[in-house]
Amino acid sequence: MRRISPATGVRGRVAPPGDKSISHRAAIFGALSYSGIEVENFSPGADCASTLRCLKLLGCDVERKGGHVRVSCEVLREPEEVLDAGNSGTTARLLCGFIAGAQDIFAVITGDSSLRRRPMDRVARPLLAMGASITGREHGNKLPLALRGRRLSGGEHILPVASAQVKSALLIAGLSAQGSTTVIEPSPTRNHTELLLNFLGVPIESEGNRVTVYPCCDLPGGKWRIPGDFSSAAFWIVAAAILPESELLIEGVGVNPTRTGLLSVLKRMGLNIEMREKGTSGGEPVADILVKPSSLEGTKVTPDEVPLMIDELPILAVAAARANGLTEVRGAVELRVKESDRIRSMAIGLRKLGVDIEELSDGWKIRGPANIVGGRVRSYGDHRVAMALAVAALFSAEPVEIAGDACVDISYPGFFDVLEGLSLRRENS
Ligand code: S3P
Repeated sequence: MRRISPATGVRGRVAPPGDKSISHRAAIFGALSYSGIEVENFSPGADCASTLRCLKLLGCDVERKGGHVRVSCEVLREPEEVLDAGNSGTTARLLCGFIAGAQDIFAVITGDSSLRRRPMDRVARPLLAMGASITGREHGNKLPLALRGRRLSGGEHILPVASAQVKSALLIAGLSAQGSTTVIEPSPTRNHTELLLNFLGVPIESEGNRVTVYPCCDLPGGKWRIPGDFSSAAFWIVAAAILPESELLIEGVGVNPTRTGLLSVLKRMGLNIEMREKGTSGGEPVADILVKPSSLEGTKVTPDEVPLMIDELPILAVAAARANGLTEVRGAVELRVKESDRIRSMAIGLRKLGVDIEELSDGWKIRGPANIVGGRVRSYGDHRVAMALAVAALFSAEPVEIAGDACVDISYPGFFDVLEGLSLRRENS
């Protein structure tokens, strides 16, 4: 149980942890490379540790000293144990793509109780179409999944869901397939896989919603610094915007436009922000972000904006609770199959705190500004729900208790200490 006291502002500087999505990809590309990858600022979260653990079991060389990680692989080995992806959908789905094409390797992938509930057929189906051998619960829709690596054939895949995890799994499988592999997404999703392959010098063609890779048996190695995670920065962006005495510099953040949909929406709502560009790292744009208190107005988030801010919707709901008027989010049904059903978890949590929030099948209607008076809420074991509710707690009149706070370790170990350090308290609290 975590008790969060009200604050009047968040002030100072903060550097969010290394990007989780890029860290997973860096590790997996290291596993496809004899010379290997070497990165600084690898995500400290439990999810990326799951990816490293699975790659080790597959015979890869993994060295880690804090944020410094080196991964390379001479020969893959059939793992003696089940590969446990823990809470990490990205680990499970990207590894499916990796193992499907790893000839003769038999592996079973499982995860924790949350991950075992999440759909896997979105990745299993197109991999089966490439010739993969995959079976599992619910005809291959749920973990545990058993895979036997095979020689795959590329092909063209039209994805029914906008999912960077599925796109990336197919591109990874495509690197060891015969012929080219093309993925067509219904709308653009995060393009870290594409940028990283390009940075490493692997031929990749990307145009609009269509991306193509070619067979490449040994990936070139590379060395770079992983930018700060925009999804972790998002909590500080909203905290600084909604608390009246804030002034916060968020340093070294990855600002890839396929991730920063939240900024476009918050700017439309009235966000007071200054971006200071810092060049690129590993092919990804990086910036420092200065945020000051902002007077926010409600807005409509449309379905096409959702994939570009999919992980930031819980914290957007908190900003909406503080904004004047109605905010409506639609087309976000994917939130129901994340670490928790995020539409429901946030609706229950914010309503309990006194926010006027209506749960829709594919989003919310939120009427602000809310007066939060304190209370007790649950994270539902979901790191982003826990952190979003913690930010909501900062503008409460009384302390808020969050049950199940330890899950923040999935993406942001130390989050609550940073929150404490940045928070300006009322004089008598
Ligand atoms: C991720 C993609 C998104 C996101 C997840 C990380 C990735 O999932 O929610 O946290 O690293 O590719 P989907 O691709 O399933 O939308």
